[in-house]
Amino acid sequence: MRLACSECGAEAASGSLFCSACGGLLEFRLDSVASDARALRLSFKERRTSNDVRDQSGVWRFRELLPAIAREQVVSLRENAVPIYRAQTGAAYADATRLAYLHLGMNPTASFKDAGMTVAISHARSFGARVAVCASTGNTAASMAAYAARAGMAAIVLVPAGGISEAKMAQTLDYGASVVAIDGDFDRALEIVRGLDPKQVAIVNSVNPYRIEGQKCAAFVMLESRDWNPPDWLVLPGGNLGNASAFGKGFREALDLALIDRIPKLAVVQAAGAAPFATVFRDGGDLVPLKAQTAATAKRIGAPASWRKALAEVRASGGTVTTVTDDEIAEARAIVGRDGVGCEPASAASLAGLRRLRENGIISRHDDVMLVLTGHVLKDSAYAADFHASTAPLANAIARAGDVQTLQSLIDRTTAVHV
Ligand code: F0G
Repeated sequence: MRLACSECGAEAASGSLFCSACGGLLEFRLDSVASDARALRLSFKERRTSNDVRDQSGVWRFRELLPAIAREQVVSLRENAVPIYRAQTGAAYADATRLAYLHLGMNPTASFKDAGMTVAISHARSFGARVAVCASTGNTAASMAAYAARAGMAAIVLVPAGGISEAKMAQTLDYGASVVAIDGDFDRALEIVRGLDPKQVAIVNSVNPYRIEGQKCAAFVMLESRDWNPPDWLVLPGGNLGNASAFGKGFREALDLALIDRIPKLAVVQAAGAAPFATVFRDGGDLVPLKAQTAATAKRIGAPASWRKALAEVRASGGTVTTVTDDEIAEARAIVGRDGVGCEPASAASLAGLRRLRENGIISRHDDVMLVLTGHVLKDSAYAADFHASTAPLANAIARAGDVQTLQSLIDRTTAVHV
């Protein structure tokens, strides 16, 4: 694997974050892999019965396709061993017949960030970094804090004051990170972090190419669990756009290695108040940063760092970008809950987006669709509680019953729903 600029292609030195020639983001290029597709599939599968910690990780199990990191440096919490659930209520809601959830919220720190963080922190440790730093809307913070704790590294996170959920803050503090709340948004926090010297501290936002390498493995986990039959569409929420870049890269590499014979179309969904990527996809030109606003705090991002990479991936896949309102996100999130699955608001944008793409016919009723859920329902329990105390049609108000009769009448009025 070699590190090169994702924009001008210039070779880059390991440990740098941006291209010294043009300032672009770096990426790893997979030049050649010793094994063929059959041998790779077989070893990925065999490792699932092994007790080696790396083999129990849905990242390190694919190590032939990752930058080389010595076994003893690997910091793993058995990340990315995630489930796929058939979407029942969600399918009816979006009028789609073949729909499943890839639930990346079922990770050790309950978000998709762990898949990338295991690689970024392992690499940082192998180079003797003492401190890991990130800007975050909450999930990157919690993930970095956990992996840094496991690696014996100090962790410092910059978050927008009042802009991350209580649960994510509590988690980050629990894992022992130092939290610095800034008077500004995520974009400002990332700008500050980007000003640090990567030789002094490990910057583990998704501008770090090691993060993308880990996150691309979610594509492999998903494909493998479907016996390497790609879905027609992968629908996912987009904020800073590291994840869309990572899935696209994973699919392209799987195609190059003949693990699959075609790549799924990528549909990226943004919150309407934080949708600079949807605009650049529609209008072309350069991305115009904006002041982001959405109740899905995880995606309150107005200047996404990986937009160029993500745009190239969406275009290469023949995919699309769409937007949804906060009300649509709220309703879709409640629907994912009714499936007995649940997710945080930012994740539910994917179901809301699918519903729109079905309505305007971009996705067909019988297309095979995989929806990515990026964070666990408990990541923003305050949002869920507020929703159920609201007047929204799907709000599930708490009933008061002081005696058996009231309870009995509730039972009599209740009908079970069989899907
Ligand atoms: N979903 C959730 C739950 C997130 O936390 C994020 C981003 C996204 C979607 C968007 O993913 O940035 O790769 O396009 N959270 C970051 C953070 C920014 O700091 O936790 P993306």
